[in-house]
Amino acid sequence: MHLIETRNLSYVYRGNVTALRGVNFTAGRASRIAVIGPNGAGKSTLFKHFNGILKPTSGEVLIRGEPITKENVREVRKFVGIVFQNPDDQIFSPTVEQDVAFGPTNLGLDEATVAHRVDEALKLLDLEDLRERVPHHLSGGEKKRVAIAGVIAMEPQVLVLDEPTAGLDPQGVAGLIEFVNTLPRQYGMTVIFSTHHVDLVAEVADYVYVMDGGEIVARGTVEEIFARPEMLTRSRLDVPVIPKLIRSLQEQGVAVKMAYTLEGAQKALLDAYIRRP
Ligand SMILES: Nc1ncnc2c1ncn2[C@@H]1O[C@H](COP(=O)(O)OP(=O)(O)OP(=O)(O)O)[C@@H](O)[C@H]1O
Ligand SMILES: [Mg+2]
Repeated sequence: MHLIETRNLSYVYRGNVTALRGVNFTAGRASRIAVIGPNGAGKSTLFKHFNGILKPTSGEVLIRGEPITKENVREVRKFVGIVFQNPDDQIFSPTVEQDVAFGPTNLGLDEATVAHRVDEALKLLDLEDLRERVPHHLSGGEKKRVAIAGVIAMEPQVLVLDEPTAGLDPQGVAGLIEFVNTLPRQYGMTVIFSTHHVDLVAEVADYVYVMDGGEIVARGTVEEIFARPEMLTRSRLDVPVIPKLIRSLQEQGVAVKMAYTLEGAQKALLDAYIRRP
């Protein structure tokens, strides 16, 4: 059974804006799924269906095989945690610490458990020095990390991150990569994220959905998706720099195997040159 499944999901905003057209999306356990696509493709609209913030205009959303209802929406929100694209939508407490504690407190956990989860989340997002600060006055990247910490502290099985790297500095991005890679392995968590940062995708995702105009225009493994440069260009996306470099070397007659990550490229180039008999 899928943890999240949408069947032929369509969504029309008031004012007759069709944001999703017949989307079929699935997410299994402990997977890392990237959703990429140009501005207005429908990524955020899709994500808002995963915990009942938006209700389908037509089609279905199933969480662990069940549709979202008034009765189970609380359980669903415990199971699927969403970090919105704009952290200001999510941050409202007087201190960072209280903000991160808000979600777990609302779950009805006891004080000691909440305190423990808050400490862990602050550590994970490198926010310990900011715990007494007013979230409203933090920088954009700091706010983003507070919003992520607040959702992590609820320990959802599925973590949905809408543009998590937008506004983060290189260290923040590196921290996020490590964190997204650790969660499925260590806790069996599923992470679904959107990004405009295609170079990041191969480092963090097992599976990729490409959206454009409210539709899923392609889906597949990192290898399958990035082997289709025309499709990516058509959807106003970039080919990541590593496969682009390897392809250009191949076109110049260098016998190097295709690679998608920095580590993969290093290995492929060493194989092509140094280890050649
Ligand atoms: N509240 C709303 N009311 C009306 N139309 C909306 C609303 N929110 C989004 N839209 C429209 O729905 C479409 C999909 O928007 P969405 O925010 O899901 O795209 P996105 O892929 O997340 O884009 P981005 O990369 O800019 O975050 C766009 O055409 C957008 O203008
Ligand atoms: Mg968006």
